[in-house]
Amino acid sequence: MNNSAKLELDGRIYELPLVVGTEGERAVDISQLRQQSGWITLDEGYGNTGSCRSNITFIDGEKGILRYRGVPIEELAEASTFIETAFLIIYGQLPTQRELRRFSELLTRSENIHEDMKYHFEGFPSNAHPMAILSSMINAASCFYPELMRGYDPATFEAQAARLISQVRTIAAFAYRKSRGMPIIYPKPSFKYTANFLHMMFSDPYEDYDLKPEVVRALDLIFLLHADHEQNCSTATVRFIASSQANLFASAAAGVCALWGPLHGGANQAVIEMLDHIRSTGDDGSRFIQEVKDKKSGKRLMGFGHRVYKHYDPRAKIIKRKCDELLNALKVEDPLLDIAKRLEETALRDPYFVERRLYPNVDFYSGIIMRAIGIPVEMFTVVFAIGRMPGWIANYREISMGSASRIYRPRQIYTGSNQRPYVPISERGSDGGSASRGTGQPAQPAR
Ligand code: CMC
Repeated sequence: MNNSAKLELDGRIYELPLVVGTEGERAVDISQLRQQSGWITLDEGYGNTGSCRSNITFIDGEKGILRYRGVPIEELAEASTFIETAFLIIYGQLPTQRELRRFSELLTRSENIHEDMKYHFEGFPSNAHPMAILSSMINAASCFYPELMRGYDPATFEAQAARLISQVRTIAAFAYRKSRGMPIIYPKPSFKYTANFLHMMFSDPYEDYDLKPEVVRALDLIFLLHADHEQNCSTATVRFIASSQANLFASAAAGVCALWGPLHGGANQAVIEMLDHIRSTGDDGSRFIQEVKDKKSGKRLMGFGHRVYKHYDPRAKIIKRKCDELLNALKVEDPLLDIAKRLEETALRDPYFVERRLYPNVDFYSGIIMRAIGIPVEMFTVVFAIGRMPGWIANYREISMGSASRIYRPRQIYTGSNQRPYVPISERGSDGGSASRGTGQPAQPAR
């Protein structure tokens, strides 16, 4: 294979180096193109842009493959735990027994948030969305650790990473309790990570929550399956923020904000709301599918489609199986599961979805598991955020350690007005108003 590509522009040939990843992914390195030719590349939505080299997660969207640090997601789902997988993602290899014990102890020691942070929760309205509370509180937590202000520091990174993984779960549970007017339940050092989250969410001061092993395992699996997913919107956001050498907590808080949107992590909440809507309107799903296919409706089949997977999302396969298993074990019948399965069957036969290669993604069935556990719908994306924390931390570390890392700063093609003079306000006319002028379209001549 050649090690460069040739590009002809304005009658000149430019040689562009080729880059090949360890799984054979190929890229044309255009980083010097502007300097050499004055041209940039344009790729709105970054659908065809590699923004970094990374050795954390590999996805083959055509084949439905997902591996963390080389280990297939199916093997981790079968045999690992969220915390062991978190270690793998952050540090690059599966921990030894000693390393895992040390990591778990560090998480336990870090599980309490600073007592003064409890007062911050008072400032939020009781109906505040927990994702807003989560991102604010992660940022607020950074105020309590002055060493974070130095940016990435290998000497304190391990402690900071453990704090973030451990405390995001405490903050999430406290936010939920507050929103329901319930007293806060402190973490119990004897519980493992996921059991402790369920304890803080659902115990009462006078009675501990009954921790069913199958529930703990199902939620742990959800965390594990969400733990990383290469350059998705929130992880790319974390890298973006980290590239300016902002601290780990500030970068993760931004990741939470990016995750919140319904096209990303917010889809798990949107799926349940969609299924509920279908049920409450007496539809069996077929009417909704017709609406989705009509572009004018502006509706999407939530939990379907993916930028990278043009095949069944391997996480969705595992979650769907777990969903059946858990509902059977708990003897729960959820009509939304039947609607979801019917929707999936219909969509996978429908030419609209087949031609566009739209399959269920990780969010399609995860909400049904969380409903069965008793997690309220507004907490679904928070659960996703807890799960995604190791991926954000690993990406933060990778960009902070990378000697070749530069601040993220894309270019643009400007499409606004050409140069025009400043017009004094007295000469601008009286109607129309500035709102109609601020459309981003090339300006109309001033009247
Ligand atoms: N329902 C109906 N049509 C869809 C859907 C959907 N869920 N997803 C994509 N399409 C259509 C889209 O309208 C477009 O059609 P056309 O070619 O006629 O214009 C075509 O498929 C390609 O879609 P796109 O919007 O260009 O794809 P994208 O890569 O920009 O977007 C996506 C990916 C995940 C945002 C999108 O599939 C979507 O909105 N899905 C629903 C939301 C969702 O489930 N998000 C969770 C994603 S997985 C977990 C995560 O990342 O958080």
